[in-house]
Amino acid sequence: MTIKVSKPTAIQIELAAKALSAGSLVAFPTETVYGLGADAKNPVAIARMFQVKNRPTNHPVIIHLSRQDQIEYWAERVSDFAKALMRDYWPGPMTLILSRSENANDLITGGQDSVGLRVPSHPVALALIEKFHDLGGKGLVAPSANRYGAVSPTDSEAVRVELGEYLADDDMILDGQAPAVGVESTIIDCTGDAPIVLRPGAITVQMIEKSTGLSVMRSQETQLRVSGSHKKHYSPKARVLVDGNSQTSEGLIADSRVKTPPGVIRLASPTSVEEYARVLYSALRQADALGLETVRVVPPIGDGLAIAIRDRIARSAAE
Ligand code: TXA
Ligand code: MG
Repeated sequence: MTIKVSKPTAIQIELAAKALSAGSLVAFPTETVYGLGADAKNPVAIARMFQVKNRPTNHPVIIHLSRQDQIEYWAERVSDFAKALMRDYWPGPMTLILSRSENANDLITGGQDSVGLRVPSHPVALALIEKFHDLGGKGLVAPSANRYGAVSPTDSEAVRVELGEYLADDDMILDGQAPAVGVESTIIDCTGDAPIVLRPGAITVQMIEKSTGLSVMRSQETQLRVSGSHKKHYSPKARVLVDGNSQTSEGLIADSRVKTPPGVIRLASPTSVEEYARVLYSALRQADALGLETVRVVPPIGDGLAIAIRDRIARSAAE
């Protein structure tokens, strides 16, 4: 049987929450990318989630919650600056790395002393987690719903193409409005004296400094493992080159002001940095759907979200 994509009606969301409680996997939309959810308390479900993704089991996963007070179950010794970040940017595209409680086991943390927590703002994600909570659940682990190293999905059809053949009959894919951000959450290590950005995203260094009143440290200063920090990641099958010198029958992703040379296949022409983030992953997927060998990408300039976009482009191009 091939897996169907379910509309995010109240009934389907309830079915999905029940499926999660019964140990099945549910892919769902968030404001960043689609996640592949599993009950954070169910080791068998988590093991299957790793299998479906083909992800190494020592890579930690983020626990998704629907309310800030749910962190107490998973984290300890939460600093004041972490609390300020939660207050200002949750629900939203931000993951905090905190000292773990004994409930956050090695399967979730990859054997580290810390745990990653996030309260997403997408209405379907929040409704699903809230329903799951009503059924007695404590949180959902949810990595991006792609095979290991591949491009994160930003629509339900991309999830089906990416993971459909590995999912079981009782698993579900929930549809929902398109992610408002389009690249993964900002990951902030809050286990030390000051915040450290481990993965750039829509919550920028400037926003973190404004919220906490602290200077943000650079990620080289941390020893934590972040799977997205491995050089090659977010990669389509096509070769990605970071320049605009497109040749005939190559793909091109660039700001709308960049012209498309004759014979070149234009995959995206965003008119703003925000739009660039929203279309980047679907454009990379489109390159594979069209069977292109090469995609040229002209990265956006500037600070803030542009830093996150350049980070993902550099990784998708890494050898
Ligand atoms: O936007 C997002 O964060 C999406 C959506 C679905 O919420 N999720 C996501 O998950 O990107 P994933 O598993 O693809 O990437 C999570 C990253 C990984 O690179 C992992 O290594 C890092 O978070 N991470 C999780 N827990 C960690 C921890 N305790 N210490 C350091 N890094 C951690
Ligand atoms: Mg991922």
